[in-house]
Amino acid sequence: MCGIIGIIGKAGVAPLLLEGLKRLEYRGYDSAGIATLVDSRIERRRAEGRIVNLAARIEKEPIAGQTGIGHTRWATHGIPNEINAHPHASSKVAVVHNGIIENFQALRKELEGFGIHFETDTDTEVIVHLITHYLDEGLTPEAATAKTLHRLEGAFALGVIFANESSLMIGARRGSPLAIGYGDGEMYLGSDALALAPLTSKITYLEEGDWAVLTPTGVTIHDETDAVIERKIEKSAASGALEGKGNYPHFMLKEIFEQPAVIGDTLHALLNPVTRTIVLPDLPFDLAGISRATIIACGTSFYAALVAKYWLEAVAGLAVDVDIASEFRYRNAGMPKGGLAIFISQSGETADTLAALRYAKKQGQHTLALVNVAESSLAREAEASLLTYAGPEIGVASTKAFTTQLTVLACLTIALARARGAIDHADEARLSAALTEVPSRAVEVLNHDERLKGLADDIAGVRDVLYLGRGTSYPIALEGALKLKEISYIHAEGYAAGEMKHGPIALIDEGMPIIVIAPSDPLFEKTASNVQEVIARGGRVIFLSDRTGAERLGRVAAATIELPEVDPFVTPILYAIPVQLLAYHIAVLKGTNVDQPRNLAKSVTVE
Ligand code: G6P
Repeated sequence: MCGIIGIIGKAGVAPLLLEGLKRLEYRGYDSAGIATLVDSRIERRRAEGRIVNLAARIEKEPIAGQTGIGHTRWATHGIPNEINAHPHASSKVAVVHNGIIENFQALRKELEGFGIHFETDTDTEVIVHLITHYLDEGLTPEAATAKTLHRLEGAFALGVIFANESSLMIGARRGSPLAIGYGDGEMYLGSDALALAPLTSKITYLEEGDWAVLTPTGVTIHDETDAVIERKIEKSAASGALEGKGNYPHFMLKEIFEQPAVIGDTLHALLNPVTRTIVLPDLPFDLAGISRATIIACGTSFYAALVAKYWLEAVAGLAVDVDIASEFRYRNAGMPKGGLAIFISQSGETADTLAALRYAKKQGQHTLALVNVAESSLAREAEASLLTYAGPEIGVASTKAFTTQLTVLACLTIALARARGAIDHADEARLSAALTEVPSRAVEVLNHDERLKGLADDIAGVRDVLYLGRGTSYPIALEGALKLKEISYIHAEGYAAGEMKHGPIALIDEGMPIIVIAPSDPLFEKTASNVQEVIARGGRVIFLSDRTGAERLGRVAAATIELPEVDPFVTPILYAIPVQLLAYHIAVLKGTNVDQPRNLAKSVTVE
């Protein structure tokens, strides 16, 4: 999965390609490159690592050309070195690719049979040689590309330019998103509207199987049968401004500290604080008629789903299944009629989540996307969508997207509970009031930053960390462990506190910190017993609770962080914050690249 951009411009395109790639870096940052047409010849500049390396390379060795393509890579086939960096090219064609060509081995063998020499370990290079092969047979660039597309299996978004064709660029989409942008005598291709935002807001999103022929003045779109087809032009709301870090050393810290504001923005869209009621946008299905919910997501978004399961079952009395998208899509899950399938995704582009959505649609489910990017594929393909108002999240490890997802899910829980008659107005008012308090309580939680930074000192040197929680605190334990793994590279596990005695208790010794998430909720005593079991075995407990919880446990933990006393309904939103801060400070102490941790990408558009 990677980011791609293409421009047929009126002046030198290298700076614009670089700017577009910076906006796509969330899709991968293993290597980057651009190719342009200079005097009708293909020229390339590529560099290992982040876009800044490519920019430095281009500064040393400038590259002209008014037509060009660019790529930022998250390696799938072939190590992330310069040779394997895109664009890949022959003397006739240059290609950028996002996705995986599943039959590349067979195609490569076939092409090697014709005496074609391969330079890279990538799957993408077969596309270059196939198109070149068909061009050599005398086909036009359009026909050679169309014929190649029919030979490819797997997922891809492609951008292609051709030597001697300075007014031509071809884009294609199957499985990975691709947008066409319209300029004034210029045309653009991009993985998303965000990449194109400084250039244009007039966008056409290609549909599955589409391929498009761009010239400086327009585009001809073909569907998967090669027939010419019209696709609508939309006005994108993506902002042209690049997000900055402000006074923060990292995007992640900035985003953690934005949480009170963005949770407030999200509540503002869904909750009327005067009537203390939830006001969802009009949905094309009746919430009262929903018989079952299935919530599907990946990564941090999956942990938001897990919290929602507890909420929906307890508050709305609704049966809920949750699943990891990559598992769900191949499980042949039965989905009874009348079910609502909810898909949670910050980016709205995660390949597995999208595939799961398509499966659920085929199963006759109502579908609801919960996304942070209003124009994302998930939002466009689902029957309805609800937005988180987190704003652009740049840090690869998700923080504010998670807590705003929880905020929307809490509102959805209340709305479903009301529709099903599971709560009355007084209950709704109490739960809504608890939610309206979250932004100011979140500020109080952030005040513990210095203390958490101090605790990070003791943890940065350890090998393993265990996170424990029960009920809605269990997914927060999972999320805490995930955050730590992602950015500090310390092994961490999240466990249901009651399950600890069935295995992880064997790991406990003086060297292993155990972070316990235990607000004083109805399950508190149970978790407190588990804490005693840990302490009896020499474990070093860091106890995240409130004053009541701290008093009830007594002075047995190595450290206690006293968070605000709130309605147990909203604790997962607030307790997510200290585990984020802890992971952040540990990662800073370890000197990792906090915003772009190794091997990860913000948006995972391959399965
Ligand atoms: C990647 C990101 C995670 C994110 C997950 C799901 O792994 O690094 O932070 O939680 O994808 O992404 P989504 O955009 O679907 O929420």
